[in-house]
Amino acid sequence: MSISVLVGAQWGDEGKGKMIDYLSSSCDLIVRFQGGDNAGHTVINEQGVFKLHLIPSGIFNKGGQCLIGTGTVVNPDVLNEEIKQIEDAKVDMSGLKISGKAHILMPYHQKLDELMEAAGGIGTTKRGIGQAYAYKALRKNLRFEDLLNLESIKDKLEKIIPVINSQMAVYGGEAYTVDAMYEKCVAWAKRFGDMIVEPVGYLHKYIDEGKNILFEGQLAAMKDIDLGIYPYVTSSNPTAAYAAVSGGFSPKKIDRIIGVAKAFSSAVGAGPFPTEEFEGAIDLLRGSGDNPDDEFGARTGRARRLGWLDIPVLKYTNLVNGFDTLALCKLDKLDDLPEIKVCVAYELDGEVIDYFPNTEDLYRVKPVYKTLPGWMTSTKEIRRIADLPENAKNYIKTIEELVGTTVGYVGVGPDREELAV
Ligand code: GDP
Ligand code: IMO
Ligand code: MG
Repeated sequence: MSISVLVGAQWGDEGKGKMIDYLSSSCDLIVRFQGGDNAGHTVINEQGVFKLHLIPSGIFNKGGQCLIGTGTVVNPDVLNEEIKQIEDAKVDMSGLKISGKAHILMPYHQKLDELMEAAGGIGTTKRGIGQAYAYKALRKNLRFEDLLNLESIKDKLEKIIPVINSQMAVYGGEAYTVDAMYEKCVAWAKRFGDMIVEPVGYLHKYIDEGKNILFEGQLAAMKDIDLGIYPYVTSSNPTAAYAAVSGGFSPKKIDRIIGVAKAFSSAVGAGPFPTEEFEGAIDLLRGSGDNPDDEFGARTGRARRLGWLDIPVLKYTNLVNGFDTLALCKLDKLDDLPEIKVCVAYELDGEVIDYFPNTEDLYRVKPVYKTLPGWMTSTKEIRRIADLPENAKNYIKTIEELVGTTVGYVGVGPDREELAV
């Protein structure tokens, strides 16, 4: 039996979807443990090209079960659409379950996110994520288990809707009615009733039977609501320890924590980004958007901000997650660069600092760069880390030494098979 947790090691979009798809073949259960449809997890395999938002990226693993876990916020209409799209590709969805304790992301959450962003936000995905988590904390949400008890829902909505409408009024949105929301719940109960499980017992059965369980994180520690670059963060905890909270088991049971990093840096949305480049080699990696691995958001299509690899970020996310190993994706994107810069430290007010600075100071830090020679040859066909060009191995060794962890997987292309181990 083993419990593994896979999380983003930078600012999101590192290649988590690809790695979950790859790793899931040896797993019995894959659990998405936080976030909502702000996620865009790209999976490219023999069944097609998929950008997953709510469904765990292990859905393509025949025989494996998938759970949308307790710590998530789920827009049922988005989930319904996503299920249809994947079913169209003839993927077996019968193993997909939803935690009864997962929160329902309602139409008004999404509307409020849109209105609040329009009034001056942080560049959210406008999927209603922050609102759904805010009303979770206020105890003014419905959960999937409520769909199994429709009589109770109307009473709950009677208490929720006036609070929502008072916020709507502040931002100039139209009022919602209890009846319209109740009707939606009736339809969702019919659609999802059979997929809803009591999550703690469900998960512990897998643990007791000695099964392999893989937890899939969304986004990454730099955007963790507590440990990230607040306020330019998401509203959940995309850090490994939260898998245990969401799953309802002891953190002592986690066997392996895998961090996924991109071989350079990218971010979407506002906030400090010390190694960001606006022109030159790294900026050219963005591509046109025509290829599935070009640097455009898998959820919103926004051009991603790009920069050199940032070791202080990886050291910090290793500190808060405790990676057993890193999966370094998109190494192939650096194949044609004669020189590669790596930010090895930050300078603040003229001094190199040995701690990770707070958000405001992060705007002011100056990256200290080390320049490494590139390898100027294609890595796309390589399947063993030992077979990578010497300069690529040197790049990886530099990362391992500076971050203080191993690199166990190296992505050399967007397809499931394009991986060196
Ligand atoms: P996630 O949110 O962490 O799952 O990552 P995204 O799917 O949002 O973004 C990662 C992008 O990189 C996607 O376009 C993937 O197809 C692509 N990708 C992942 N790993 C590799 C790799 O090793 N090489 C290349 N070229 N592309 C990759
Ligand atoms: P995956 O799982 C990259 C960013 C948004 C914004 C901030 C808050 O594919 O890595 P939110 O909608 O969550 O309230 O937005 O977080 N963001 C992501 N950036 N990848 C994601 O997901 C993201 N999910 C949210 O751009 O800065
Ligand atoms: Mg993504």
